[in-house]
Amino acid sequence: MRQPLVAGNWKMNGSLDSINTLLEGIKAGLGEVKTAEVAVCPPFVYIPQVVQMLSDTAVSVGSQDVSDEESGAFTGEVAGTMLRDVGCTYAIVGHSERRSIYGESDEFTARKFAAARRFGLTPILCVGELLEEREAGTTEAVVGRQLDAVIELEGIAALGEAVIAYEPVWAIGTGRTASPEQAQEVHAFIRNKLAGLDAGVADKVRILYGGSVKAANAAELFAMADIDGGLIGGASLQAGEFLGICTAPD
Ligand code: G3P
Repeated sequence: MRQPLVAGNWKMNGSLDSINTLLEGIKAGLGEVKTAEVAVCPPFVYIPQVVQMLSDTAVSVGSQDVSDEESGAFTGEVAGTMLRDVGCTYAIVGHSERRSIYGESDEFTARKFAAARRFGLTPILCVGELLEEREAGTTEAVVGRQLDAVIELEGIAALGEAVIAYEPVWAIGTGRTASPEQAQEVHAFIRNKLAGLDAGVADKVRILYGGSVKAANAAELFAMADIDGGLIGGASLQAGEFLGICTAPD
């Protein structure tokens, strides 16, 4: 059985004060979370503070991005070794905001995926189609291509040690959630595609859904056969909402 994972992606939000308040709120309700593994992905600069505050809990900490390089003259980059050093266990790679705002390609994302693994982090690989791609009927081609870039570089077995997050771009921060059936259809496509290469990997890999998940819609999404939790943006910034999502699989 795959343990559901609920990961909060805080994006570029927060301050020392607001993060303290948020984490205190989350910690106060963690006792209610029975089934899911919980993770949070703060902005880089707050990671050490967050690791410290969560050190007496089972909550994991991840980064929102990672460099494809190990060290050297790469101004502004943060290496996987550094993230490991300060206590991260996960690294999001290929979030649609990195792909669309910063022009990160499938190949570059695959290199980041490889770097995360090389330095002991579990990648959370984001995939998903734009609205125009969905409307053009190319959702599976787009998601398939994004997965293939990683499979070609790292091999299928690497995905068995990673997490995949399906985030339809049209559902991110828009309040427009994919219906459980729409999400399940793509999750099943992903799992079947992987099963064609390695049934064990397909069975093992957790595929999260992301895009306007809230406490009110999490349970019906997570009840779908191939949805193994969520990658949560806006709702992860409110302790009550986030805890409501974390307890949805119970
Ligand atoms: O990575 C999480 C994400 O992009 C979804 O954001 O705000 O729609 O939950 P949001």
